[in-house]
Amino acid sequence: MRKPLIAGNWKMNGSAELIETFGRTFAGIELSSPVDVVIHPPFPYLDAARSAFAGTPLALGAQTLNPLPSGARTGEVSGEMLAEFGVEYVLAGHSERRQLYHESDEQVYERVIAALTVGLKPILCVGETLEERDAGQSEDVVLRQVGHVMARLEPGQRRMMTIAYEPVWAIGTGRTATPEQAQQMMAAIRGYQASFDSALADALRLLYGGSMNASNARELLAQEDIDGGLIGGASLKVDDFKAICQSAG
Ligand code: PGA
Repeated sequence: MRKPLIAGNWKMNGSAELIETFGRTFAGIELSSPVDVVIHPPFPYLDAARSAFAGTPLALGAQTLNPLPSGARTGEVSGEMLAEFGVEYVLAGHSERRQLYHESDEQVYERVIAALTVGLKPILCVGETLEERDAGQSEDVVLRQVGHVMARLEPGQRRMMTIAYEPVWAIGTGRTATPEQAQQMMAAIRGYQASFDSALADALRLLYGGSMNASNARELLAQEDIDGGLIGGASLKVDDFKAICQSAG
């Protein structure tokens, strides 16, 4: 039985006030069954979030990291710095990073390794564009992105991983993959994983991302191979995010 994980990716949104609101709201939350919950705020809010989330079920996540431990990389943040601030999870390969900042599969792999080296749990984001889906290439693209990282990790490293399938055409568009489309891809990812590590395939958490919200979460999360969600827009509204966490329980 895999424990669900609900991750809120705030992207370049949020405020110190929103951090406080989440801390207050989640301090008193009753989840019907065990769910891991993590918020990925922008870097400047991590320290405030660490204090505000103490004693709540909210874990701390970051949105990216630089593969180097330190050095002349203006504007970048290392995994060691994140670990020092109590960060537990870090996204790697979000489609906005791949598209807007040209992160390649290899650079995503380097970030995953850097995260694992300092004990952070990577959430590897994968997903096809609309053109790739229309061309019938969805599965090839997603399994290439997954394989480029997972096939090269040691078994112990693989156990630290979570994979988020986020079709690019569903991110921030209000257009969600149908539960069947999402389930089909999850089954493909789990099947691929089983081809070289069947014990891990059963334990690996697979998240759906892309316009998940309080209304569609329950149906998506009910799919056999969907173990949680990576939520953008709806993670900025505390009541919606709380409702999604409750539907995961
Ligand atoms: P969205 O974003 O929920 O706003 O579609 C998801 C994501 O980019 O992780």
